[in-house]
Amino acid sequence: MLLWRTKIPEDWLARTLAHLPAVLVDHAHLERKAATSALNLEKYRDLFDRVDELNTIAIEELQHFQLVLQLLRKRGIAFTQAHPSPWISGLMRSVRNGTRQQVIDHLICCSFIEGRSCEKFQMLAEALRTVDPEIASFYGSLVESEGNHYATYILMARAIDDKETTRRMDFYLDYEAELMRHSHTLPILH
Ligand SMILES: [Fe+2]
Ligand SMILES: [Fe+2]
Repeated sequence: MLLWRTKIPEDWLARTLAHLPAVLVDHAHLERKAATSALNLEKYRDLFDRVDELNTIAIEELQHFQLVLQLLRKRGIAFTQAHPSPWISGLMRSVRNGTRQQVIDHLICCSFIEGRSCEKFQMLAEALRTVDPEIASFYGSLVESEGNHYATYILMARAIDDKETTRRMDFYLDYEAELMRHSHTLPILH
């Protein structure tokens, strides 16, 4: 996994556990948006020959979305509106739209979201192991898949332009650390 330049804020886990139903709703939206992101990446000419892999990711994300929806129903939690994440909007705002390198930025942002999700799902799986084994094993079951998505997006960016990816990764690691330090108190995963 990536060498992040900052840790997830100390209070993140406690805050997330205290608002688990709301976080599950946010998680459902996150999986929905992850499926959409995989499909959106198919618009780039540089990714036309990766369309099958992107479809596979989109299908996996939709399956995750379905799993979270089932969990919500089982627990009587309503699927309600999504809260925008300042961290995700911050990342997406930095994509150099209209440039040849837009695809590199977009792939790096998607990979960071996958990477941080992977890390956070692992933390939740550990923290909930004895308290809520059902959700713990659910989160545990997603870790590998999100980790693979993270790696796939980085490798796709490197296959397009390795040097530019290295250069932008350096920028994005600093930028992500700055966004992460601007903590918020919303009941959302990111
Ligand atoms: Fe997912
Ligand atoms: Fe994913």
